[in-house]
Amino acid sequence: MARLRLGVLGSGAGSNMQSIVDAIAKGELDAEIAIVMSDVADAKILDRARRHGIECRYLDCSPFRTKLDGAAEMKCVEILKSAGVDTVVLAGFMRIVKAGLLGAFPNRVINIHPALLPAFPGVESWKQALDYGCKVAGVTVHFVDSGTDTGPIIVQRAVPVVEGDTPASLHARIQVEEHIAYPDALRIVASGNYRIDGRRVVIGG
Ligand code: GAR
Repeated sequence: MARLRLGVLGSGAGSNMQSIVDAIAKGELDAEIAIVMSDVADAKILDRARRHGIECRYLDCSPFRTKLDGAAEMKCVEILKSAGVDTVVLAGFMRIVKAGLLGAFPNRVINIHPALLPAFPGVESWKQALDYGCKVAGVTVHFVDSGTDTGPIIVQRAVPVVEGDTPASLHARIQVEEHIAYPDALRIVASGNYRIDGRRVVIGG
């Protein structure tokens, strides 16, 4: 399998992108990040990418607030394609991606979600798990399909919810596992040693 050429989309701090940068630098992931894009002009993820000499772009997604659609989606696909991207990595990208991007990269858009899906799709999932009274929370890395946080699961990792947890303390514990899970999932994709069977990712099959 050829080394992955990644396009990363994020809206926030970019710690997951950092975990991918680190895995590549350590020789633990056969990939390169071709471009990083953010829908937030001053997002930390762009600063981090710049510090690593990775090409980065701000993507104006207006007039939409919660999705990547229309002209912005077309622009995004054009930028990713001209950067030679083969795999799109959503790393804290807080917008719903639509058919235009998914069709341009079939089964090649991957997302990280801070919950054990299918529990708690949507936003602030760690808070949803805490409010619900869960004893276990976690993270899911999955291929993106046309639903919201519904695509085939590549990797999941669990963390305990402990007495006295706050949303911030639980999210911090989940993020430790995120930074293991995303490189793990991308290693599986890079290996090519998997198949998508319905909604299931069969690894080694
Ligand atoms: C991560 O916890 C990620 O799972 C979450 O945003 C955070 C981004 O952190 N994503 C979602 O909630 C997507 N629905 P980062 O910018 O430090 O990688």
